Amino acid sequence: MRNVAVVGVGQTKFGEHWDKSIRDMIIEAGLAAVRDAKIERGDVQSLFIGCMSSGRYAGQEHLGALAADSLGMRVPATRFEGACASGSLAFRNAYVDVASGRHDCAIVIGAEKMTDVKGPEAITSLAAAGDQEWEAAIGLTFAGLYALMARKHMNDFGTTREQLAMVSVNNHKNGVANKNAQFRMPISVDDVLKSSIVADPLRLLDCSPITDGAAALVIMSENLAKKAANPVWILGSGQGSDTIALHDRASFTEMAATRTAAKEALSEAKININDLNMIEVHDCFSINEIIALEDLGFCEKGKGGRFVEDGNIDINGKIPVNTTGGLKAGGHPVGATGVRQAIDIVRQLRGDSCNQLKNPLYGMNLNVGGSGATAVVNIFGREMKQ
Ligand code: COA
Repeated sequence: MRNVAVVGVGQTKFGEHWDKSIRDMIIEAGLAAVRDAKIERGDVQSLFIGCMSSGRYAGQEHLGALAADSLGMRVPATRFEGACASGSLAFRNAYVDVASGRHDCAIVIGAEKMTDVKGPEAITSLAAAGDQEWEAAIGLTFAGLYALMARKHMNDFGTTREQLAMVSVNNHKNGVANKNAQFRMPISVDDVLKSSIVADPLRLLDCSPITDGAAALVIMSENLAKKAANPVWILGSGQGSDTIALHDRASFTEMAATRTAAKEALSEAKININDLNMIEVHDCFSINEIIALEDLGFCEKGKGGRFVEDGNIDINGKIPVNTTGGLKAGGHPVGATGVRQAIDIVRQLRGDSCNQLKNPLYGMNLNVGGSGATAVVNIFGREMKQ
């Protein structure tokens, strides 16, 4: 496998875009990434796009062809779907494409246009990423599934309602400086506790929102990337799977898919979890950030709430998490999220993040699909693998 680097990034603002179609957003993000990479569209040799449900949300399928056509790139173009992990699946497969030597330059896009349908329809479409027969059909939404995990975590480990709220408070604090974020207002623990109940114990401010947005990045093989202005190297990638239905899992409070994906990515990158300077995790609901911190090994099982309360995930903490606002404040256009996470790690490593850390060397993103049936982890570094 050859070394591969990210050489250009671009995204739309995340939020409600009444005036833009999914095609408009793909063009905006894709061309921004090409410009940032300082290449021509004709230099791109393959296209990978992640999207969960453009058919239901925007009436548009065949998204690989749509993206290639709209961007003026007549190259092999493929769409990837893995619920909220769709963007990272596209990224991982593009990485393999370039690392294997098949192509030297690929574009990765993530896109979702969720607000053109009414709220209940958006939530029904999301629920289709769970088990249709055993979960969605009885009215179990994703908020409902994560509420079950939160309740079990609180029961088994004493995690408090306040600790869940602190996850959202941290994400909102980090989102204030991010001009691409859907919500840029700070919130307090009290605000979270007083927000309306969505699925007990989860409240409105524990939830990621419904969002439109697209994100894109350009990757290149080592021989080309070495000439790029500011390459960020992909050091490892891992993917894991678990049962699609929550009730079939050995545990409601951990995600085996995350553990599998992280183990593979860390082993390929040849680094330890404690070498990381920051991470992007999948905070679709506040409880998922706590579970992710435990599954990735930043703290012991059951201690995630305390880890958050002690300030470890703060921008100046032991492991800064979601330094630009995460899914909660940044927004969660599901197919775009994994690509957006990768972009924010790349920006930190290039030194142009809106909340820049001092001299980071390594970063990781964790993108989860459904209630944990799919997980993808990617690791990035300032220096290439030797
Ligand atoms: N955080 C903060 N504010 C939010 C919000 C969120 N997650 N979601 C909506 N809002 C705000 C809106 O901006 C709006 O504010 P305004 O009145 O000042 O304009 C207000 O709340 C009402 O918005 P609306 O769109 O009517 O909300 P809703 O009640 O229909 O939906 C949720 C709220 C939480 C149910 C919905 O966002 C949701 O289902 N989120 C989870 C999405 C999900 O499951 N993703 C997949 C993860 S696996």
